[in-house]
Amino acid sequence: MNTYGWAARDSSGILSPFHFERRANDDNDITIKILFCGICHSDLHFAKNEAGMTSYPFVPGHEIVGEVTKVGHNVTKFKIGDKAGVGCMVGSCGSCENCKQDLEVYCPEMIWTLKTFGGYSENIVIDEHFAVLIPNSLPLHGAAPLLCAGITVYSPMMYYGLCKPGQHLGVVGLGGLGHVAVKFAKALGMKVTVISTSPSKKNEAVERLGVDSFLVSHDQEQLQGAMGTMDGIIDTVSGPHSILPLINLLKTNGKLVAVGVPTEAPEIPYIPLIMGRKLIGGSAAGGMKETQEMVDFAAKHNIIADIEVIPMDYVNTAMERLAKGDVKYRFVIDVANTLNSSF
Ligand SMILES: *[C@@H]1O[C@H](CO)[C@@H](O)[C@H](O)[C@H]1NC(C)=O
Ligand SMILES: [Zn+2]
Ligand SMILES: [Zn+2]
Repeated sequence: MNTYGWAARDSSGILSPFHFERRANDDNDITIKILFCGICHSDLHFAKNEAGMTSYPFVPGHEIVGEVTKVGHNVTKFKIGDKAGVGCMVGSCGSCENCKQDLEVYCPEMIWTLKTFGGYSENIVIDEHFAVLIPNSLPLHGAAPLLCAGITVYSPMMYYGLCKPGQHLGVVGLGGLGHVAVKFAKALGMKVTVISTSPSKKNEAVERLGVDSFLVSHDQEQLQGAMGTMDGIIDTVSGPHSILPLINLLKTNGKLVAVGVPTEAPEIPYIPLIMGRKLIGGSAAGGMKETQEMVDFAAKHNIIADIEVIPMDYVNTAMERLAKGDVKYRFVIDVANTLNSSF
């Protein structure tokens, strides 16, 4: 099938219009006409080949939502006209230990959406197993970022048991991931503290997102005052940062969970971990079953990402702004209305 989108051609990361082929819709596949696609940090890293794994031309986009336009003979989850979402993966082996436990994201043969032609494009063909049904009540533009940012914070909250009413959750970094973590935690009845380098984010965090408190990460006095108060912390930051102050914020048995990939590996201070029976963990997105649960939870609690909707031809500017952290809190491309085939 002939299709088109926007692709980076080299490590400048600059995107431009691009025609390419999608596979034909097979028995287990659905075809989704893409309506919106979020811009995740990893789209930017991959476009510039910062991980050294990019093959060009590269069509980014793994926060995909759209409408089902074709279903294969064996498809059971979707019918034409349904709203569907695709996140960070498009395939896995289906038979390993991880796949059998609905943990496809940890399958050694898992296929990242980033390694295929992604969602900055007209449509996508995908095995129905790797698509989720988006409930009709969820606004699609704000739902797009749930497919990567949403599941990336939801999955560790569930797995590490940081999801109980009354618990105190710290969220490090108030960006695409962090602001969704705040929304999930508030919907779960938790007390939420945001830890951020930017004091300027405080008012909005408290007044609009409803966080209970806000700590500026370089303010020693504030950190001191909150020592030993948190049941868990979700660390979304990918820039270099020290984790000792975060470990100190945890109660006994507290858990620090990394979901941002730091450009420099932080030093792990064993003694404070030992002395408080504390744990450091990690988590990568989530399996497909849990991604569906997350989307259903979001629909039930009216949770969508806070977004800035942009036209396709703004994408290069958006990427530059994203690199500077200049977005509240996610760019979402209005693909259906602004991707133009006449080039
Ligand atoms: C679709 O289902 C039929 C009948 O169960 C099966 O023979 C066929 O292999 C399936 N197709 C794929 C691609 O799995
Ligand atoms: Zn992502
Ligand atoms: Zn597998």
